[in-house]
Amino acid sequence: MPQRFFLVSLALPLCGCKASSESTCDPCDTQPGLTGEAEVQLREVLAARRSTDYAAPFGPNPITVEDVEAIAWAAQGVTLPDVPTHWPGVKGLRTAPSAGATYPLDLYVVAERVTGLEQGAYHYVPANDALESTGVTGPLAEAVAQIRRDEYPASDPKVFSDAAAIFILTDTFQRTSDKYGPWADLYIAIETGHVGQNILLMATARGLAHRPWGAMGTDAREQLAELLNLSADELLDEATRPGCYQPSGSKALHWPLYFIGVGQKP
Ligand SMILES: Cc1cc2nc3c(=O)[nH]c(=O)nc-3n(C[C@H](O)[C@H](O)[C@H](O)COP(=O)(O)O)c2cc1C
Repeated sequence: MPQRFFLVSLALPLCGCKASSESTCDPCDTQPGLTGEAEVQLREVLAARRSTDYAAPFGPNPITVEDVEAIAWAAQGVTLPDVPTHWPGVKGLRTAPSAGATYPLDLYVVAERVTGLEQGAYHYVPANDALESTGVTGPLAEAVAQIRRDEYPASDPKVFSDAAAIFILTDTFQRTSDKYGPWADLYIAIETGHVGQNILLMATARGLAHRPWGAMGTDAREQLAELLNLSADELLDEATRPGCYQPSGSKALHWPLYFIGVGQKP
């Protein structure tokens, strides 16, 4: 199948990629360099990437847990596990670059219609390449859409209500401001773009529809943090997290920045 072939081929130099288990060879044994063929296939993915229709974004069928795992790994998967980060005791460089290896971003997933994954909100833990429940279960996509409708009634956020899964990038500002002070805002925004594009490209490579969504006000972002219990913090412990950034007095450690609805093509 061309699509499967292309995923495996992109994954070849990257030991630890979930797609490797679908391969007939073990990429971790060989670690070959990138080939001209890989460039051709990467160009195909880049050329195919397109945001789905705002008004009718997704088909009704579910996506699979393998889709979610592949997208999560593309976003924040660890590719060099033994290399130290900025944080003492925390090792593992990831698929996307990070200013000073400070890793301010976290990835959460709302699984709505995902075969093999119970409905609910999950946190991706890069060190374990695992999705962990935030403790919030059941259908959530409509509630996410309603938060947007409440703040802007003219909005028709089918990108949330009809999504099979919603990928949410959050940041912990202090992780990066600790090293870069006032540069942190800029660096975190740049990193969100890197990680967001990885999500979009893996969704595209797997034949899925997507649409990124930035429009969400301060109150709505705080409501989302509450709804989905975006409070996990696997990177820093209390000793290295003296004063976390708290937008508008929010208690949330993780500030939702960017949202990407994913589903089958309409
Ligand atoms: C930072 C950012 C925020 C976006 N926010 C929204 C949004 O709130 N609602 C929406 O429907 N699309 C949103 N989009 C998608 C853009 O409208 C879309 O990328 C653009 O029309 C170009 O289309 P393409 O993605 O197919 O190349 C956003 C894209 C980016 C990069």
